Amino acid sequence: MNFHVLTLFPDMIEQGLHTSILGKAMEKGCITLETTNIRDFSANKYNRVDDYPYGGGAGMVMEAEPVYRACKSVEAGIGRPARTVYLTPQGRVLNQAIVEELAMEEDLILLCGHYEGIDERVLEEVVTDYISIGDYVLTGGELGAMVLIDAVSRFVPGVLSNEESSQFESLQDNLLEYPHYTRPEEWHGKKVPPVLLSGDHRKIEAWRHEQSVKRTKERRPDLLKNAVTVTCAFYALEESWRELIRQTTEEMTRYGNLLDVGRKKIRKQHNTFGSGDFLLFAVPSILPADSPVSAQEDFFQSFRGHNTPAALIYYGNPTEAEPQDSILRIPADRLITSLQNQGFRILDTCQNPESSRERRLFLLRLREKIYQGIRKETATDA
Ligand code: ADE
Repeated sequence: MNFHVLTLFPDMIEQGLHTSILGKAMEKGCITLETTNIRDFSANKYNRVDDYPYGGGAGMVMEAEPVYRACKSVEAGIGRPARTVYLTPQGRVLNQAIVEELAMEEDLILLCGHYEGIDERVLEEVVTDYISIGDYVLTGGELGAMVLIDAVSRFVPGVLSNEESSQFESLQDNLLEYPHYTRPEEWHGKKVPPVLLSGDHRKIEAWRHEQSVKRTKERRPDLLKNAVTVTCAFYALEESWRELIRQTTEEMTRYGNLLDVGRKKIRKQHNTFGSGDFLLFAVPSILPADSPVSAQEDFFQSFRGHNTPAALIYYGNPTEAEPQDSILRIPADRLITSLQNQGFRILDTCQNPESSRERRLFLLRLREKIYQGIRKETATDA
């Protein structure tokens, strides 16, 4: 991942980012950082880059031409237009879903303003995204750019070690992280919660989940309002599909439930969900004609939602010609209609979960929707 920062204060960016984990990531070559001084592209002999605002008022405005030239010079170096983020308190407030989405780019140009801002006309020509790092005003965009680079880099392969890996993220489920403890077992008369010493991983996971929910309720109830419990209901004939489904669910949530509808017991029990749930339905697009579950309606017959948000994963698209009489095609639209009739709101479909890029984009779209509050929609829909 290559970060290109346009700024009047390149030293600030260089000094701030060349240490610790990001410094190492740059040495390893996982990320690169190029700073461009906008002043080097000044259009006058005094190297001036700002001027008085038309219409009067306090402060100075950065001129369009130096910003434009600096931007085009960086783009020429990249060789194609790249996503260009202007850091401004007027932008979308940065969150984990935006961070993950930006991490999928190969190059990111970050434009830092100063003074009262930048001439609107050049922003209209070069900027693709307006991003704020919070509802307060900084003296310039540099700290915002550094925050964004730090958060995005954590998702670039190789930046974090396996143990530090961002696979399980605090905030992934709209939940804050549970409390952490290390040695000694007792400090200032306070003991480590006994469950953490039990060695029982199921119990530890359950305790951590409970603590996350409690903490989020106390400290960030606004996040909790959009949290959902993810259940993946799937039908898989092969172990490789089962593995793909497990992986996809894990990528979406730390605390997911899996329901294998290939098991009679699961098909026979009542599977009822509410508006705080999120259902991922995963089915193959074709089945052998003699498959034990013969019709697509059979998969999820026992599932009932109450305006429950859901998405469909449709895997195993036939690539080579299959003998027509030996397979059953599962039409996605029929499956979607029957799920809708059973009370589920299908928000999205992933047709090619085998591609990690497609799967990631699909999960990001869902996460973005969850952040925006699909449960609120549910309340107004009802
Ligand atoms: N520049 C000034 N204030 C900012 C903010 N809150 N976020 C991003 N860039 C900024």
